[in-house]
Amino acid sequence: MIDIHKVSFQYLSSSTNILDNISLKIEKGEFVGIIGPTGCGKSTLCYMLNGLIPHSIKGYFSGTVSVSGKKLVNESVEEMSAIVGYMLQEPSFQIATPNVTSEIAFGMENLGISREEILNRLDRVLETLSINYIRNRATADLSEGEKQRVILASILAMNPQILVLDECSSMLDLPSKLNLATTLKQLNKNEQKTIVMIEHDLDYLLELADRIILINNGQIIADGPTAKILTDIELLRANDLVPPTVVSLFQEIQKESKIAVEIPSSHSQATEILRRMLK
Ligand SMILES: Nc1ncnc2c1ncn2[C@@H]1O[C@H](COP(=O)(O)OP(=O)(O)OP(=O)(O)O)[C@@H](O)[C@H]1O
Ligand SMILES: [Mg+2]
Repeated sequence: MIDIHKVSFQYLSSSTNILDNISLKIEKGEFVGIIGPTGCGKSTLCYMLNGLIPHSIKGYFSGTVSVSGKKLVNESVEEMSAIVGYMLQEPSFQIATPNVTSEIAFGMENLGISREEILNRLDRVLETLSINYIRNRATADLSEGEKQRVILASILAMNPQILVLDECSSMLDLPSKLNLATTLKQLNKNEQKTIVMIEHDLDYLLELADRIILINNGQIIADGPTAKILTDIELLRANDLVPPTVVSLFQEIQKESKIAVEIPSSHSQATEILRRMLK
C-alpha cells in the first residue's frame, strides 16, 4: 500500500540529509504510529506520502515512494488527495475557505461528489466529530482545536483509504481526544483504513497503534509492534522520548517491590495486572 524505498531528502537550506536512505512498507489496514524527538524528520517523512515532497516542498530528493501502486513523482498532490487524507501539523496552514461548511465541502467538491451526497456526508462528519455546534461559524474565528476537528472532518468526508495525521490531537482537550480515538479505531477496524499517525503522546499511541516506527537522526531506529517498542523504556529514553505513563509506573513498581512485575502494553492490561497483584 505504501512503499518507501531508499529515500533521502535534504531541504534546500539545510546542510545535511534530514532523511537518510530510509526504506519502509506499510500494508493496507495497519495503524502505524510515527515517533521521534522534535526535529527528527517525522513531518518531512510524511510529506512524501501525498507528494508534498517532491512536488510542493523543494529540496534534494532521491529514492522512490509508491502509494496504492502509484509512483508519487508521477502524481499531483491533488490527485493523491483522493487516496491520502493528509492533516498537516499546523491547522492554520490547511484551512482554505471562509466558513466551516465550505471548508468541509471543499475537498468533496474537488472529487466531483454530488451536492446531495456532500450534504449527507457533511451532516455525518459534523455528528461523528461532535462539531455540529460550529457548523455556521467562520473558520477565522475557530480555536486551534476546533480548526483541527474541522480539518479532520473535511478529510473524513472525502473517505480516503489512507489517513496521514500529523499531531492531529495536539490542540484537543481530553474528551475530544478520546472521542477522536474511538472514531479512528472504528475507521481502522471496521473500514480497514490505513492510518499513519505522528504523535508525541505515547500513552495515546499505546491504545491506538498496532505498529510503531521510531525515527531519529534521519534513520529508522526501531520498527515493530506497539507492545514491544512502547514498553522498551531504555530505547525510548535513549531517543529523548518519555515512555507511556503506565509503562513508567509499572517499571517503578517493579523496582520498588523487587519482584517480577509484568510491564503492561495497554491500559486494560495494566488494570488486569493490578487486579491480579491485589488479590
Ligand atoms: N522548509 C524547511 N527548510 C529547511 N529545513 C527544514 C524545513 N522544514 C523542516 N526543516 C528542518 O528539518 C528537520 C526535520 O523537521 P520536521 O518538521 O520533519 O521534524 P519533526 O520530527 O516533524 O519535528 P516536530 O516533532 O517538532 O514536529 C528540522 O531540523 C527542521 O528544522
Ligand atoms: Mg512535525
